[in-house]
Amino acid sequence: MRFSDDFIQELKDRNDISEVISEYVTLKRKGRNLFGLCPFHSEKTASFCVYPGNGVFICFGCGAGGDVITFIRLIEKFDYLETIKFLAQRAGVPLPEIEKDDGMYKKKMLVYEINREVARFYHNCLCEKIGKKALDYLLGRGIKMHTIKHFGLGYAPPGGHSAVDYMKEKGYREKDLIIANVGMSSRWGRCYDRFRDRVMFPIIDLRGNVIAFGGRVMEGGQAKYLNTSDTIVFKKSDNIFAVNFAKNKVKDNLILAEGYMDVISLHQAGFENAVATLGTALTDGQAKLMSRFANEVIISYDSDEAGKKATQRAIKILRRGGMSVKVLSIPKGKDPDEFMKAYGKDAGVRFRNLIENSANDVEYRLGIIRSSYNLEKSDEKVKYLDECLKILCELSSPIECEIYAGKLSEEVGVEKKLILLQVDKMKKRSVKIKEKADFRDIQKNISGKMSNLSCVERTSLREIRAEEALLSVIINNQDMVNNISQEVSSDLFMSELNKKIYETVCRLSSEGRNIDVTTISSVGEFSPSETGYITKIMCSYVAAADIKRDLSEYICVIKNENQFRRLNDVENVEDDKIKNYIENLRQVKK
Ligand code: GTP
Ligand code: MN
Repeated sequence: MRFSDDFIQELKDRNDISEVISEYVTLKRKGRNLFGLCPFHSEKTASFCVYPGNGVFICFGCGAGGDVITFIRLIEKFDYLETIKFLAQRAGVPLPEIEKDDGMYKKKMLVYEINREVARFYHNCLCEKIGKKALDYLLGRGIKMHTIKHFGLGYAPPGGHSAVDYMKEKGYREKDLIIANVGMSSRWGRCYDRFRDRVMFPIIDLRGNVIAFGGRVMEGGQAKYLNTSDTIVFKKSDNIFAVNFAKNKVKDNLILAEGYMDVISLHQAGFENAVATLGTALTDGQAKLMSRFANEVIISYDSDEAGKKATQRAIKILRRGGMSVKVLSIPKGKDPDEFMKAYGKDAGVRFRNLIENSANDVEYRLGIIRSSYNLEKSDEKVKYLDECLKILCELSSPIECEIYAGKLSEEVGVEKKLILLQVDKMKKRSVKIKEKADFRDIQKNISGKMSNLSCVERTSLREIRAEEALLSVIINNQDMVNNISQEVSSDLFMSELNKKIYETVCRLSSEGRNIDVTTISSVGEFSPSETGYITKIMCSYVAAADIKRDLSEYICVIKNENQFRRLNDVENVEDDKIKNYIENLRQVKK
């Protein structure tokens, strides 16, 4: 599906980039541009910049960048067509006739629709006679009717065909019910219900779409919970339960609980910033999702052994996601749901108290280590100290480090100065290791798609800079493209990516089309990070007094380095080629 350049331009004009991004990111003005925390990676200092003048954004931290279309595509995880529709709807721009080739988009919309219908069916069942057992179960666990409605809880009847039959009657095809995973195909090719005789918890995404279900049995015997398998609209490891409610309720932190029931009880008690993973261990993707709303997460897992392990793991992941972490421990090994039930009316106040007294992650981890050593024994003391030092090393704040070093010093009777000295030493060692890794990363980044970089490392940077500069000039001066394309063949480019950008720009120019990030990106089918790179190149442009002279310099570098590389590449270089090359260099020097 291709939209006209005019339409895309109108779409961009009507969706002001700073306005759109402000809906997701808090932006602060600095001069003509706006800065904020990048929503695409975790950071504490703002390296995400919006240039309203150019209609683009760039993150100097992670390299994401592009225009308003790229932004929505990345942040909403939409495909291109979904993005266009979203922006068109947002600005009230009518969409040109959509052709038939938007299969995936339509399929996803259908799955959302099926899920919504089925959720409604389950909910109605819960409220009817057939669901009495389930309703009693929920009410018996202290869940109130308005909470049941709020979360859209339901009941999947037993038997094995009720949801499927209901949906088929409404005109949905078995094939699609199976795609949505509300139906499953039997060995004999029949379609039957995925969920039977279970209390149903709809899982809803940020935009309010029902994307999946969790279903709980009411009696023991089988696996307690069954979730929707991954589908075209659902990936278990990327979603969290109740995020649709919590995202608007976060003041400064999120509460991360273990299960559906914990979250529901917490919301009912007024803690509407509670979320949970979907029965799997926390992932980086989920941490990232949370970091879009919260700077701090309070982990509120069970306090049994498994819960402790999960807590330690979650601390690392959340920290890595750039959030600060606290750990709340409920006395007597209760989970939040049991706690709410046990204390009835007082539970809210008591829980708030627990939140306020929750240890931060460092205290929590030190406490856990402490409990496994006997400090009366010298050798255990040494081991204890060693483990603690590792934790202090991870702290980026010197003040934090100083405070814990002080506490530790008192505890083990080792001078604080010595402890800090040791931390410093260990830190330096790890910084060196990290620097090496970073350097390797950068090298990898530069080489990107260039396979033959290693043999030309000396000259590669120079040429790539020249390529980027040339691209920057032509993207910003479209009238020059046709001339340049006659003079510079794309084969001269060393970086495959630059070459592809160059070819795309030339092609657009020859077709008389607009040359901007969106068009380049969609015509060249560039990935989001490649689009970020193009945006950066575009913005790096500084209008020079004599563009033509600059251009000829870039072209010169590109041509010469190319020749040099070819000489280097070929094992048996012919003499006259070397002569040629040297002659060329002389010309340049003159
Ligand atoms: P209740 O036992 O009803 O209080 O529910 P809970 O949400 O407190 O469950 P629990 O603490 O035992 O487990 C936490 C979460 O792990 C649940 O909400 C589920 O998401 C998941 N989980 C637990 N048991 C199972 C299971 O048997 N299968 C799957 N897939 N997930 C499970
Ligand atoms: Mn529970």
